[in-house]
Amino acid sequence: MMKTGKDKNQQYKKFLQSVPLLQNLNEELIGKIADAIEVDYYPAGDYICRQGCSGDSFYIISSGSVKVTQHNFIGEETLRTLKAGDYFGEQALLVSSNPSALRTANVVSLDCECLVLDRTNFHSLIGDLNELKTKYYEDRDVFHCLENSESDDCVDPSVADLKLVLRGDSLDDALVVDVLFLT
Ligand code: CMP
Repeated sequence: MMKTGKDKNQQYKKFLQSVPLLQNLNEELIGKIADAIEVDYYPAGDYICRQGCSGDSFYIISSGSVKVTQHNFIGEETLRTLKAGDYFGEQALLVSSNPSALRTANVVSLDCECLVLDRTNFHSLIGDLNELKTKYYEDRDVFHCLENSESDDCVDPSVADLKLVLRGDSLDDALVVDVLFLT
């Protein structure tokens, strides 16, 4: 579902003002964000972000919810559920040294509608927000490495492809998605 123009601006401006991440932004900037967003609906089960894939969009949930999952050594683990007013997809956009940084987790729709900003608008409108730049996920797993990718921009993160990587290991032919510190 897509909405454009004035209706979209009016309808979503008020919602954007209630989003905790955007609470300190002035009305003009909120208006610019409302102008820039696309509105997308994702039925339950849709993978909005795929771990190991490239990504160019940032999402604010306007209704419904999603679950954030990660592939680890046991399988696909749910890390968290996010609801209306929460956001996701910032990590792959924030690695300034690497414009093709990859998604750090899966985000799976539990039936939701999202307000979506593309990479350019994300950076020009909200990419400088401290909350985003300093965002740290405490429950984030760890250190794993995906190999045997069949595609250049999207790694198949099946458990069979997971391999533990220790500091100092050679990483030729491998993509480090996250880091596990064994203590
Ligand atoms: P990105 O890596 O671009 O795409 C997947 C998104 O999932 C990621 O940005 C974060 O927004 C979100 N994410 C990653 N790890 C966690 C976590 N541990 N808890 C909640 N959200 C997460």
